[in-house]
Amino acid sequence: MSESVPHGGTLVNRMNLQLFEESSRNFIELDKLELSDLELIANGAYSPLEGFMGRMDYESVVQDMRLVNGLPWSLPITLAVNLKKAKELVIGKTVNLTHNGIIYGVMEVKEKYQPDKQEEAEKVFRTTDINHPGVKKLFERPEIYIAGPIALTKRPEKNKFESFYLDPIQTRAKFRKLGWKTVVGFQTRNPVHRAHEYIQKSALENVDGLFLNPLVGETKSDDIPSEIRMKSYQVLLKNYYPKDRVFLSVFPAAMRYAGPREAIFHAIVRKNFGCTHFIVGRDHAGVGNYYGTYDAQKIFSHYTEEELGIKPLFFEHRFYCKKCENMASEKTCPHDLEDHVILSGTKVRGMLKSGEQPPKEFSRPEVVEILIQGMKEVYLNENSPNG
Ligand code: ADX
Repeated sequence: MSESVPHGGTLVNRMNLQLFEESSRNFIELDKLELSDLELIANGAYSPLEGFMGRMDYESVVQDMRLVNGLPWSLPITLAVNLKKAKELVIGKTVNLTHNGIIYGVMEVKEKYQPDKQEEAEKVFRTTDINHPGVKKLFERPEIYIAGPIALTKRPEKNKFESFYLDPIQTRAKFRKLGWKTVVGFQTRNPVHRAHEYIQKSALENVDGLFLNPLVGETKSDDIPSEIRMKSYQVLLKNYYPKDRVFLSVFPAAMRYAGPREAIFHAIVRKNFGCTHFIVGRDHAGVGNYYGTYDAQKIFSHYTEEELGIKPLFFEHRFYCKKCENMASEKTCPHDLEDHVILSGTKVRGMLKSGEQPPKEFSRPEVVEILIQGMKEVYLNENSPNG
């Protein structure tokens, strides 16, 4: 297999373009999700998108999981404003894109349209329940979508782990330098536990390198903060992974919790980062009980492997079995449920917060140590007089 071709054929670059020289006094204030989308459109992670989606692409993506040109694409990438702002914007003119009043980019306003959010929720999230974090966010957004090509004029601030922010052009160069012809991408919004490690290493048996690409954009407030996770990934890699077969850098997108559709999106984006393979395990990008355990695998049959251009590697639910004394799955383990070490994310977060150690069969002790320390600091900050 040769180096992966970006989605649509070319890696988009819309950074520091001179395209929009005309200065604009109008602005659209982006939320965190939109700001991360802006950067990821500009650096080519969302190739072939060159801006926020117009109505035709939006409707085609919502209905058929394809862009109008037929390319697979599963999530709407849109920019929302209220009616008052929409009226101020002039088609054909540029507008500044700001966050907290700082200009990060510009956009040529091509279209304004009103989305059918009910339909978007039903199709994209498979539910209209506002207890779903993605649906809640969708319904809280303003009512008009503004579309058009963008350019990024300033990089959003990075937090403490700046050296782990690489653009697709850089990860591709890195994989080339490492001599990796086949690269498996791994998405996570969690610390890497034993089950994750097991599926990553199973994949590594068959490809040249593992691209550990944790999502560090906006997540639910009860997910473990990315600063803490980043420390835990580094200690894990140092102690348990072959140095020259893993590469860690971050995916600064927001989590949508769209389960199956987000799995497709995650795969396409990792293709743009240079991956040839992508891991999809149990309940990928899921939340609550909105999706079936393997829905995020089943959805891949909507496309041919050729048109997707990245090979999904599916894994069943993995766990540690005390009787097998090994990581296992239903396919390999004959023992009862009570022999399996299975902890929910909520349970683990509760344990970490109270300083209780999850068992070493669930998570590596070095990782647990970092997580407990990190959660303690979060707790202290939240409860300090200034917190
Ligand atoms: S998420 O971004 O997909 O929400 P998460 O950390 O929960 O992140 O999972 C990362 C990847 O590991 C996903 O592909 C998920 O399906 C897979 N996964 C998580 N836990 C298990 C498990 N116990 N067995 C098999 N696959 C798993």
